[in-house]
Amino acid sequence: MKTLYDTFRLRNGVEIPCIGFGTWQTPDGDTAVMAVSEAIRAGYRHIDTAACYGNEVGVGRGIKASGLEREKLFVTSKVWNTERGYDKTLSAFEKTISDLGLDYLDLYLIHWPASSFRFENWEEINLGTWRAMTELYKAGRIKAIGVSNFLPHHLKALTETEISPMVNQIEYHPGLTQAETVAYCRENDIVVEAWSPLGTGRMLKSEELQVMAAKYGKSVAQLCIRWCLQNGVLPLPKSVTPSRIEENVDVFDFEITKEDMAEINAIPYFGGAGLHPDEIDF
Ligand code: A2P
Repeated sequence: MKTLYDTFRLRNGVEIPCIGFGTWQTPDGDTAVMAVSEAIRAGYRHIDTAACYGNEVGVGRGIKASGLEREKLFVTSKVWNTERGYDKTLSAFEKTISDLGLDYLDLYLIHWPASSFRFENWEEINLGTWRAMTELYKAGRIKAIGVSNFLPHHLKALTETEISPMVNQIEYHPGLTQAETVAYCRENDIVVEAWSPLGTGRMLKSEELQVMAAKYGKSVAQLCIRWCLQNGVLPLPKSVTPSRIEENVDVFDFEITKEDMAEINAIPYFGGAGLHPDEIDF
């Protein structure tokens, strides 16, 4: 990846701009409008939101305010856990589209798998949700479909359906590389996206990463984002601060060495959201 306009290519030919603008924990209203329009002004062409973030209206207003033509932008949203299953997913999609003020989505994801921890028929629930996503995709309402926070055992049943997931968005940052899930996705031609590539800010406190970033004349945030790209994972950094929004895409003028990549890849877990897909109670 050499510029912000380079893309990851999905199995169906759809191209996703290589850094997405994260909006988890971005408050709706003026903050979302400002952050999203600022991101588009800074060159982001990929915006990631979700129904459960409660900011789709503000994100949509930010997109409109930017004045950018719709087809130049890649927009992702996600179906929330209370809306799982065929019928509810179809309605959730209509609400998302209406809140965003768009007439199609580029990518729609199942936000979290139904897990065996909470549901005896978890596989059946996931398949019901997936059937609705597939139908929306085939009707042309969504350009690509995928999942988020799915582990290999959740993914398996979906990869055996008519249309296999094209994307899996997982928590991914130094100390949490989810090697088994990433390998499974690679084998099944599923693009991996990183939510919280900065560990929701936690990574920035690592002395080891601070020393390494300084060597490149870059910030730890930039190091983490570049590290995702060099590992073939699409980062989705979030910020509501204009200077950071710009900083987070200024990552194309340096290359992390093989040795440093290996060092970051080997950093043990030192904090994250702590949400295991098989243990969450929401
Ligand atoms: P803010 O939104 O107030 O600018 P992640 O993308 O891993 O979820 O991390 C998001 C968090 O990291 C937010 O708290 C955000 O703060 C902060 N953040 C994002 N970019 C930077 C940066 N370049 N430098 C420092 N903090 C950042």
